[in-house]
Amino acid sequence: MTDWSAVPKAEIHLHLEGALESELLVELAQRNGVPLPSYDPAVLDARYRFGDLQDFLDVYFVNLAVMRTEQDFHDLAALYLRRAREAGVVRAESFFNPMVHVRAGVPLEAVMHGYAGAFADARRDGLSCALVLDFTRDLGAEAADEMLTAVAPYRDLIIGVGLDSTEIGYPPSLFRDVFARAAANGLHRTCHAGEEGDAEYVRQALDDLGVERVDHGLRAMEDPELVRRLADEQIAVNVCPLSNVALRAVDRMEVHPVFAMLEAGIRVTVSSDDPAYFGGQVDANFAALEQVGATEEQLAAIVANSFAAAWVDDAERAELE
Ligand code: HPA
Ligand code: ZN
Repeated sequence: MTDWSAVPKAEIHLHLEGALESELLVELAQRNGVPLPSYDPAVLDARYRFGDLQDFLDVYFVNLAVMRTEQDFHDLAALYLRRAREAGVVRAESFFNPMVHVRAGVPLEAVMHGYAGAFADARRDGLSCALVLDFTRDLGAEAADEMLTAVAPYRDLIIGVGLDSTEIGYPPSLFRDVFARAAANGLHRTCHAGEEGDAEYVRQALDDLGVERVDHGLRAMEDPELVRRLADEQIAVNVCPLSNVALRAVDRMEVHPVFAMLEAGIRVTVSSDDPAYFGGQVDANFAALEQVGATEEQLAAIVANSFAAAWVDDAERAELE
């Protein structure tokens, strides 16, 4: 078996809020006087068994109540960036989700300065990394539009936008205008689609949001025409194998659509999504695929795809690879 932590790669589908490991969760809860069901990290970890996406999101959002100050956001991002480097990540493009924090009364400035400070530290230590603003889709398009306006003073800290949280009932088409405005601002675009929603969600992400990448994209495989289009246009599809099995978007690792995606010529990448909840960093996700028979050639293609899909210029891409 390969030591995947020794293989340089880009991780482009990662939620900073999903990197909140139980030890840090407990520390922040104690720091900020926020009650938890247990203060034993092992007990908290043992609760992480999910029936579906919403089941996970319910726990994830409750836990985020511990995040209050700039220092908290700095500590969370620093933890992820350290773990990422240990897992062989040389380029990190990381989602952050300010809407949930701001609605909980945290100043946007604390979120931005905390995350950006840790990213600047990591950059000084030689890691290529950038922040991607994720909108919480179930809060609606108007709230997303307001957040895009609110982050204008921090424009230089962000390279792109995405869409996450509850998928079904919140199709990409609702967010057409805010994504158009993000594009006009020179921001890259990606979108969670086809994790639980059907192929139509993925099609809308392409047609209505003009995304360059799709996060998960699993159910696109139900539509042969869409599969051909993803391959033809070399749209990156960023899957997260341990997440997909943990949230039962995929029955078993052996039947993960990543194999069919590779077969179809889709530019599929592998990331960890929410590593504190789904059993491991990006290296563990590669190992999980290797364990069910992914070949050296397939896994090398996925690594190469991670660099091809990264939002860096060609000079930096050549340096990273
Ligand atoms: N899907 C949707 N929303 C999310 C996820 C995910 O995998 N992780 C964090 N927010
Ligand atoms: Zn995700």
